[in-house]
Amino acid sequence: MSKRLDGKVAVITGAASGIGRATLELFVEEGAQVVAADVQEDAGRELERRHPGAVRFAPCDVMQPEQIRAAIDGAAAAFGGLDILFSNAGRGGTFAGVENFDLAGWDATQALLLRAVVAGASYAVPHMKRRGGGSIINTSSISALQAGYAPICYSVAKAGVLHFTRMAATELSAHRIRINAIVPGFIATSIFGGMLGMDHAQSAEFARAVAEKSGSANPIGRSGTPRDIAEAALFLASDASGFVTGTHLTVDGGITIGPRHAWDPQAPGPMQTALGISREDAQRMRAGAQSAPATKAR
Ligand SMILES: NC(=O)c1ccc[n+]([C@@H]2O[C@H](COP(=O)([O-])OP(=O)(O)OC[C@H]3O[C@@H](n4cnc5c(N)ncnc54)[C@H](O)[C@@H]3O)[C@@H](O)[C@H]2O)c1
Repeated sequence: MSKRLDGKVAVITGAASGIGRATLELFVEEGAQVVAADVQEDAGRELERRHPGAVRFAPCDVMQPEQIRAAIDGAAAAFGGLDILFSNAGRGGTFAGVENFDLAGWDATQALLLRAVVAGASYAVPHMKRRGGGSIINTSSISALQAGYAPICYSVAKAGVLHFTRMAATELSAHRIRINAIVPGFIATSIFGGMLGMDHAQSAEFARAVAEKSGSANPIGRSGTPRDIAEAALFLASDASGFVTGTHLTVDGGITIGPRHAWDPQAPGPMQTALGISREDAQRMRAGAQSAPATKAR
């Protein structure tokens, strides 16, 4: 049976861990050859050893646009072209807010999360044009859609990723290059440990704890896994999404459906909070109102 990415060549940034690594594994299962671009040399070389012939590691710091270009050009040279770019590398970035603005932190975070996405698309386009088309996928975040999930600089960069994706589609559609974003919710990966200052090993361990404990945060009742996002990336990379461009796919277990009380019967709603009554009080009052005889009209 033919696989969904047979004959395709992909570059994945941030491929050494979490969402990127799960996507690499799935792309290889589905027949792709993949360049894994990451700053983590040991983990990247390990991927190469596990998938001889199918995976090449490219040492790449996406804050250095020339290194992104080298990874992309290297993939085309090694595997004969480029069909898919998954711009996914990321970290939490600066925690600084509006009042305690941190110029260097802001620039570095934007360079990592937004400029790298723009540069990657730009360097991929000439290769994809030679192939007659391609698919670019960018990792955004639910923090691009709503406040309350991540620091301001990260959230603004991820919102930039969404709008860049739309704007780029206006230019690239003519070349049959599709460009879309994925909006992950809480996915149990090393990113959270990294934000708390842990090293790679500690962060990986912390990700396992997050996977065990974070299910109750999501309406769907389980934790999000890197594989959940990999499946979305496979759809956007494959011909199954051939009519999809300039948009995003939210994969968040329903957490952005609405506020918690919309899906959790135990959570107090805003009306109860405003009136200072408990959920039980409200139920008792409703039951009383329903059993009271209707007032007779005169
Ligand atoms: N985990 C979540 O809940 C979540 C939610 C929304 C969005 N995201 C986004 O998903 C993407 C992947 O993150 P993850 O959750 O898999 O975390 P992760 O820490 O497991 O993986 C991130 C990878 O990016 C690499 N990386 C970091 N900085 C880099 C750089 N300068 N150059 C090259 N590689 C670099 C890391 O080495 C690592 O392999 C990120 O863009 C992140 O912002 C994650």
